[in-house]
Amino acid sequence: MAAYLITGANRGIGLAILEQLSKDEKNLIIASVRSQSTADKLQKQYPKVKTIVIDMADSYAKFESAFKLIDQYSPAGIDYLFANAGVLGEDPLYSSTLYDVEQYLDVLNINVGGVAKTYKAAYPYLFKKDNGITKKVIITSSVAGTTGGFVLGGNAYGASKAAVNHLGKQIAEENKGSDNELVKNSITILQHPGYVLSDMGADVAAKVGSEGFITTEESASKMLHLAETFTLAQTGGFFDENGQTILF
Ligand SMILES: NC(=O)c1ccc[n+]([C@@H]2O[C@H](COP(=O)([O-])OP(=O)(O)OC[C@H]3O[C@@H](n4cnc5c(N)ncnc54)[C@H](OP(=O)(O)O)[C@@H]3O)[C@@H](O)[C@H]2O)c1
Repeated sequence: MAAYLITGANRGIGLAILEQLSKDEKNLIIASVRSQSTADKLQKQYPKVKTIVIDMADSYAKFESAFKLIDQYSPAGIDYLFANAGVLGEDPLYSSTLYDVEQYLDVLNINVGGVAKTYKAAYPYLFKKDNGITKKVIITSSVAGTTGGFVLGGNAYGASKAAVNHLGKQIAEENKGSDNELVKNSITILQHPGYVLSDMGADVAAKVGSEGFITTEESASKMLHLAETFTLAQTGGFFDENGQTILF
């Protein structure tokens, strides 16, 4: 049995990950969503799924308090953290002079601050116990954040994904140097999920065309397969949905 914490699990790629994991009765799934009504709706549909209510923009103190439920749901802690919740903000394809620059604060707050708070609050549960499962942190990034293989446009969204790549790399490097064997052997991955026809991706596809886009189910299935197969040698890496390395 493995225990999973997924943020942004009520729709899009996060929901598809939840759906696929819930097919195996042995999996313990904790879904983080941002309202009680969403949590209630999700639990009606997936009675075995546990929920945590938190907004990525909430304070760290709220994260700490909300994540205490993990102890009740899964006394042995969690094995996989999918830090998936995110926002696109205003059309990221605008030129930097047309873009509403006021968006930066919100988009970075959610897409970077939200992941940083999620990881920090999840840490005690992720590294609670050695149950023989390698602990994995999968941070949903995007090719929009690459500066090495630059993709034009992006604005606050691209900047947020570049920043979250830095965070993921920092986590991986810190953990590699840990004295705690469980932490030292953990794997942190920056994962581009593909161009995906979720609400977010469909907005982009409507402007650029949907060629090359995949469904949320395909994306989730590829991500779950990769999450199983990533090795310690790959920690801190940035990969696409097929496991190919992406330039930072
Ligand atoms: N779709 C793509 O082509 C694509 C490509 C590269 C990377 N990504 C990344 O993949 C991840 C999932 O995106 P998606 O395509 O599945 O998008 P989506 O369908 O728009 O879903 C976004 C999810 O994030 C949650 N979320 C947004 N703001 C939040 C907040 N402030 N607090 C808590 N939860 C919040 C949403 O919850 P609510 O329902 O409450 O809003 C929803 O569950 C994101 O990190 C995105 O940047 C997507």
